Amino acid sequence: MNGKTILVTGGAGYIGSHTALALIKNGYDVVIFDNLECGHIETVDTLKNLSSYRGRIIDFIKGDLKNPEEVSSVFIRYKIDTVVHFAAYISVEESVKNPQKYYENNIVGSMNLFSEMIKHDVNKIVFSSTAAVYGEPKSSEALQENHEKYPINPYGWSKFMVEQILSDYSKINKIKSAVLRYFNVAGANSEAIIGEWHNPETHLIPNILRATNGKTFQLFGNDFDTKDGTCVRDYVNVEDLADAHLLALDYLESGGISDCFNIGTNEGNTVKEIFDICERVLEQKINVKICERREGDPAFLVACNNKAQKILGWTPKRSIEDSILSAYKWQAKLAEKK
Ligand SMILES: NC(=O)c1ccc[n+]([C@@H]2O[C@H](COP(=O)([O-])OP(=O)(O)OC[C@H]3O[C@@H](n4cnc5c(N)ncnc54)[C@H](O)[C@@H]3O)[C@@H](O)[C@H]2O)c1
Repeated sequence: MNGKTILVTGGAGYIGSHTALALIKNGYDVVIFDNLECGHIETVDTLKNLSSYRGRIIDFIKGDLKNPEEVSSVFIRYKIDTVVHFAAYISVEESVKNPQKYYENNIVGSMNLFSEMIKHDVNKIVFSSTAAVYGEPKSSEALQENHEKYPINPYGWSKFMVEQILSDYSKINKIKSAVLRYFNVAGANSEAIIGEWHNPETHLIPNILRATNGKTFQLFGNDFDTKDGTCVRDYVNVEDLADAHLLALDYLESGGISDCFNIGTNEGNTVKEIFDICERVLEQKINVKICERREGDPAFLVACNNKAQKILGWTPKRSIEDSILSAYKWQAKLAEKK
């Protein structure tokens, strides 16, 4: 037992639940706080029932970050060591249609959380940020953390503003933060215990996999300036990503200063390549329809992860095939549940 209690906001969701699992495997006790608007109680129950690890889920609190009293109650009830903050709305498209919803949830919710942390002397946080903070890349080189930040949608701005708030709080020694900018997250727990469960699902791999039962996968744009005309993205495995959070906790614990880290693989795959790998891994033909480009989709988005490698000691271990296979196994299990 390492005796530390971690508050995981958004722990009923995709990445939060995989990180909660990695935490309990590594001896942390975890309190999950989630309003279940996009997360699932079944996921929390699955995690709670895992009893062979050194740590455990000590509580699930159904609460909303927009409600300061609900947030406060967590810090009154538990002595929290560090917060890992996932809870947010995540749809770029929805954020363009309804920016207020995104600013209110992602920024006001985060500020409520930070206020309660400060009130209760909890001064370390790992924050889920995104490649969307960079906006349109200036070149087709892998992006470094010091690339210009100019988001092109309210979702990206909401995340970038929270990064800025954390940076300002850090300067006056209120909260120390490790900001992880994830690129495209993929895959599921390798034993299909938990996995990606979004509704609606906007991510590429689950949408290709869903088209395996005779439906048609829609591929948006084949006229980009890339090797096969389709967009290049950097797919990071969700279990590798969960490990990055453990290393970020160690980093903060051992005196690391507030900093931001790209979490990606240094490599990109085109949408067409991902589609082909899905067909190969599943040994199945999948129907595809080429559609118009979506507005605001950059051609190329790949992380340079050298900083995370050097400072956090993080390296991605799982391949894109691993991610696709685990996602497929999880999807089959999810289909049985329905
Ligand atoms: N999925 C990706 O590819 C990706 C990429 C980059 C960054 N991120 C970031 O990672 C984080 C997690 O993403 P995810 O894919 O796991 O999303 P998700 O929707 O699966 O999980 C988010 C969880 O937060 C909860 N939540 C949202 N608002 C809340 C509130 N006000 N109070 C309490 N709970 C609330 C939801 O119910 C959900 O369970 C997000 O912050 C997102 O911006 C995700």
